[in-house]
Amino acid sequence: MSRCFRAKNYKVRHQSKLVNLLNLARKVGAELRSVVREALESGEASREVGIGADGTPTEAIDKIAENVVMKRLSEKEAFFVLSEEAGSVALTEEPEYIAVVDPIDGSYNALHNLPFYALSIAFAPYREGASLADVSVAYVLNLYSGDEFTAERGKGAWYNGRRIRSVEARKLSKATVCIYSTPQSVGTLMPLLKRIKRVRTLGSAALELCHVARGDFDAFVDVRTYLRNIDIAAAKLVVEEAGGAVTNMQGAPLEASLLRIERLNIVAAHSMEMHGEIVKILRG
Ligand code: IPD
Ligand code: CA
Repeated sequence: MSRCFRAKNYKVRHQSKLVNLLNLARKVGAELRSVVREALESGEASREVGIGADGTPTEAIDKIAENVVMKRLSEKEAFFVLSEEAGSVALTEEPEYIAVVDPIDGSYNALHNLPFYALSIAFAPYREGASLADVSVAYVLNLYSGDEFTAERGKGAWYNGRRIRSVEARKLSKATVCIYSTPQSVGTLMPLLKRIKRVRTLGSAALELCHVARGDFDAFVDVRTYLRNIDIAAAKLVVEEAGGAVTNMQGAPLEASLLRIERLNIVAAHSMEMHGEIVKILRG
């Protein structure tokens, strides 16, 4: 068999595997929407049931949602999973892929009738030392509305199946920016707050980032060192494939692992230009 034929064959197989991953994520998403709706309607959703692997309290809704995702992923037996409540779980001795999962990003919203919460799944080929840069397929589903964001590394990003294309960047003085802060970090943010038009904080980082990808928001800034890799692993690829940028506060690549839960600061923007401007302002 020629090298060229083998390479082409590998590409076709690889491509169809990526499509399979996306289809799997869609199946999980469809099931999760109805399970979550039922749990919310029955009132079963809001019991506190322990402490998750990320160290925060687990509400019943988080556990119910994670069980659905884990069950479907374990049927395929190809995954190392990093998820909010369970932490790192190898479903097989020799995983082919990593699945980074937040079963419900925006649990507070889900429990308080605020229609902005999402399933987030990022897939990456398994390797020791895998980091956010290895994510190759991304899926974020607004569990309330059913709106879907997907991305494939090197291929693009889509909103409900329509390609997300970059639109002309707004000026910073007209920008709407999602901002997450602590009392201690307000000082760092003040120079930025003085330069932008609006602040919005909607409680689901994954979804907010996907709306940055579409240009609905211009940027997203979280300086709390509290956001987790699982919250943003998928949405980061959506922003990048839509032509935007996602880094830490210094403008350097995010290096968080995909094999354990890590916390980070991030600056994301719909355009490279605005991203550069924001990083410059934050660095002072
Ligand atoms: C939360 C959301 C929220 C962010 C929090 C996260 P969760 O995720 O992403 O936007 O500010 O830091 O914990 O806990 O609802 O999955
Ligand atoms: Ca969650």
